[in-house]
Amino acid sequence: MGKAKLIKFAEFDSFSNTFNADCTNKGKWNQWFGNNNPIVLELACGKGDYTLGLARLHPHINYIGIDIKGNRLWRGAKTAIEENLCNVAFLRIPIDNIQQYFETDEVSEIWITFPDPQPQKERKRLSSPKFLNEYRKIATKDAFVNVKTDSDLFYEFTLETAAAENLEVAINIPNVYTQAEVSDILNIKTYYETLWLGMGRTIKYVKYKLNPIP
Ligand SMILES: C[S@@+](CC[C@H](N)C(=O)[O-])C[C@H]1O[C@@H](n2cnc3c(N)ncnc32)[C@H](O)[C@@H]1O
Repeated sequence: MGKAKLIKFAEFDSFSNTFNADCTNKGKWNQWFGNNNPIVLELACGKGDYTLGLARLHPHINYIGIDIKGNRLWRGAKTAIEENLCNVAFLRIPIDNIQQYFETDEVSEIWITFPDPQPQKERKRLSSPKFLNEYRKIATKDAFVNVKTDSDLFYEFTLETAAAENLEVAINIPNVYTQAEVSDILNIKTYYETLWLGMGRTIKYVKYKLNPIP
């Protein structure tokens, strides 16, 4: 591993707003934030652009960015410290193990931003039935999942899974930036989103309920 990466890993562990496979906050995240505000997750957050963008827009919501890559999380954590964003934390874990880090009903909403589409491995897609079942163990029963992606495959798969599981789709935008007005929330651009936009790809957004319509 390169020296720069090693320095980032050491710094990541020393930050006040980072957790490296640390489950001590399970069921106690609100205590850590020091308030009772809702907790929203950004999964596959990379450098945490959505976590930061949403936290700036909504100071009364707590945001936790989750990814397996510590050097990417380092960027988000450092920016949050520089901007004194107290409603932000970053957790380095495989999302597959998420139920080890959050208690039942601890999470109010989930964002999945530009996840790897996993063309060959459906089960590894972060909106697959297997992952939805994991999210159900930690999220409130009326929680929403937000997906933003450039991938047609991931977008179609997400909609097909929502239909197969009888999940209510609240918003479905096949091309975010052709809308007459783009909301502040959807105008947040991640590192990968900027790359894909530069290559002329269209950005899709879906917001749907995590639990089936009763
Ligand atoms: C294409 S990048 C997107 C990063 C960021 N959301 C963005 O748009 O710039 C996908 C991210 O998902 C993370 N990832 C993929 N599968 C994961 C898993 N099972 N657990 C944790 N992180 C995962 C990768 O480490 C990577 O940072």
